[in-house]
Amino acid sequence: MTASAWGAPTPAAASPGGYQAGSAIRALQLNDLLEIEKQAAQILPKGGFGYIAGGAGDEWTLRENRAAFERRQIMPRVLTGKGPVDLRTEILGTSIASPVVICPMGGQGLAHVTAEAGMAMGAAAGNTIMTLSTVSTLSMEQVASASSAPKWFQLYLQKDEGVNRELLRRAKAAGYEAIVLTVDSTATGNREADARNQFVFPFPFGNLVSKGTGGDVHALNAAFALKINPKSVEFVIKESGLPVIVKGISSPDDALLAISAGAAAIQVSNHGGRQLDGSPATFTVLPTVAKAVARKVPIIFDSGIRRGQDVFKALASGADIVGLGRPAYYGLALGGWRGVQSVLELLNKELSMVMQLAGTQTVDEAKRTGLV
Ligand code: GLV
Repeated sequence: MTASAWGAPTPAAASPGGYQAGSAIRALQLNDLLEIEKQAAQILPKGGFGYIAGGAGDEWTLRENRAAFERRQIMPRVLTGKGPVDLRTEILGTSIASPVVICPMGGQGLAHVTAEAGMAMGAAAGNTIMTLSTVSTLSMEQVASASSAPKWFQLYLQKDEGVNRELLRRAKAAGYEAIVLTVDSTATGNREADARNQFVFPFPFGNLVSKGTGGDVHALNAAFALKINPKSVEFVIKESGLPVIVKGISSPDDALLAISAGAAAIQVSNHGGRQLDGSPATFTVLPTVAKAVARKVPIIFDSGIRRGQDVFKALASGADIVGLGRPAYYGLALGGWRGVQSVLELLNKELSMVMQLAGTQTVDEAKRTGLV
């Protein structure tokens, strides 16, 4: 399968079970990454939109992920004589255009007929890394062939070790360069929007079709491991032979356990407020986690990034790069791979402006800046 095979919507994929995902392939005129959610809500079916946008419980953590950024400020630095800004950086040996990568997100066929192939092409166009979810619409092999850009594979550990081994073997064979092991999902978050909408995925999950897993996310979650500990991290490192990023860390103690087990990086994340409602914003916990990690391994930060200044604040609080979630999903819905590219371009443009006005020229300089 070539990239161009995924450039245009395929009629067969256009309406799985009557569900109408987006099919436009176009660049987006965006003012900011907050309004894009409202635009996506207008074109996506209610169930699909609810699954993407929703958080757990009262959605306090979902809101707090945004609110926490407002409590710290960036000091303008106007006489440093620095510029122009260079956003390029690297993570685990891979060069990327800016400190922004794409987070794993389930079932992207909900957003667009090209699903994760479109996301992979958008990430490639933005010169960054895409992380493919275990619960993707397309299989990891299909997504691998959609672009030659570097990709990571996110693993939800299953109860069945044989299934875990097989997923890891396939990911390595398909050329994924790291495993993102999600550790915050031993129980399903209380997603009330999904319950209200009686949401069921309108397609099976591409990586798990041979397991007969349909689109019922709750049935699927029943197959997830109920206990995860440092031995699980060691298992994934050994079985995959790839660098393992442990995703879903909020506590410094968990960060240290992950590092002792051999994690190549940690991802400070509360799953976009979709798991434990009432848990702190990731931006709130980032400085203490970063202090404990003490630069032993890189930190990827996610949950709540919508603005260039959020990226800057995360870098200045101990993150090496950030992961972008829902806005990329909405970009995919509205414009396919071109929409994802537009979203990345806007965030990078904002970050560039912020770095310039904060008197920082490089990502390393941004990381060395303190906040007010
Ligand atoms: C999947 O990762 C989800 O949060 O639904």
